[in-house]
Amino acid sequence: MVPADTPVLRADDLGVLRGDGVFETMHVRPDGRGGAAPWLLDEHLARMARSAARMDLALPAEDALRELAALAAAQWPADVEGALRLVCTRGAEAAAATGGPVTCFATVNPIGAATLAARRDGIAVATISLGYPAGARTAAPWLLGGVKSLSYAINMASQRWVLAQGVDDALWVSEDGYALEGPTSTLVWRTGDVLNTVPVETTGILPGTTARHLLDNAADLGLTAAERMVTPAELAAADGVWLLSSVRGVAELRSIDGTALPASPHTEKLRGYLGFTNLGY
Ligand SMILES: Cc1ncc(COP(=O)(O)O)c(C=O)c1O
Repeated sequence: MVPADTPVLRADDLGVLRGDGVFETMHVRPDGRGGAAPWLLDEHLARMARSAARMDLALPAEDALRELAALAAAQWPADVEGALRLVCTRGAEAAAATGGPVTCFATVNPIGAATLAARRDGIAVATISLGYPAGARTAAPWLLGGVKSLSYAINMASQRWVLAQGVDDALWVSEDGYALEGPTSTLVWRTGDVLNTVPVETTGILPGTTARHLLDNAADLGLTAAERMVTPAELAAADGVWLLSSVRGVAELRSIDGTALPASPHTEKLRGYLGFTNLGY
């Protein structure tokens, strides 16, 4: 464990030079035993292993990563929610050429004000094109659809682009007109008693752990779950639309491209079920 301002990376690490690596962001919350722990750790470790496999990146043993995440979370105050990042890069450039060791580290940070506001107040989103049809990434594995790689510059640029238009977040739309996901979140919408999300394997979106957890347990809320394609126009007519992620939890969409969406009576229930009530605000 080192203070957050201690240098821990070599300048020739491929994570820095190429964005060549994988990461996971987890919500750190009270573990019920007086400490703090990463929420849905197993699911995040499974996704990290899947991302790494798709990038031919050899991760350390899962137990070592589990221990690293637990060690970082244990230093975090139990009564403050946090964001834990677990990062594994391909390592220093010269060593990587001969199969050298990966670099792994974990950080924990407070939840940002904008994230807390999105969770509390909901968000206005603008749709922006991802530039290719929904099915394009399935046929082109090198585009790393479904992989949580360190190359998030496009995700961040997408958010900056729409922030400059005065909205809170982006909703990526395929070239053929389907709403896919946010740059850092999964799309979930309700129609009647069904919670819907976008299919993963046919679109190349990231399999969100938060949305998966919610939809797998939809029966607890008296709902069923479905995966299907959706257009922004259909979303505007749904009984609630949300962007979900580990740290933001549930952010209700209050408008899409300037079209106002009515406040959903279901948001509080989803937030409560996922354990995001009365945490950071
Ligand atoms: C592109 C993308 N989609 C979806 C998500 C939501 O995933 P999770 O619920 O596992 O945080 C994220 C998380 O940051 C993401 O980066």
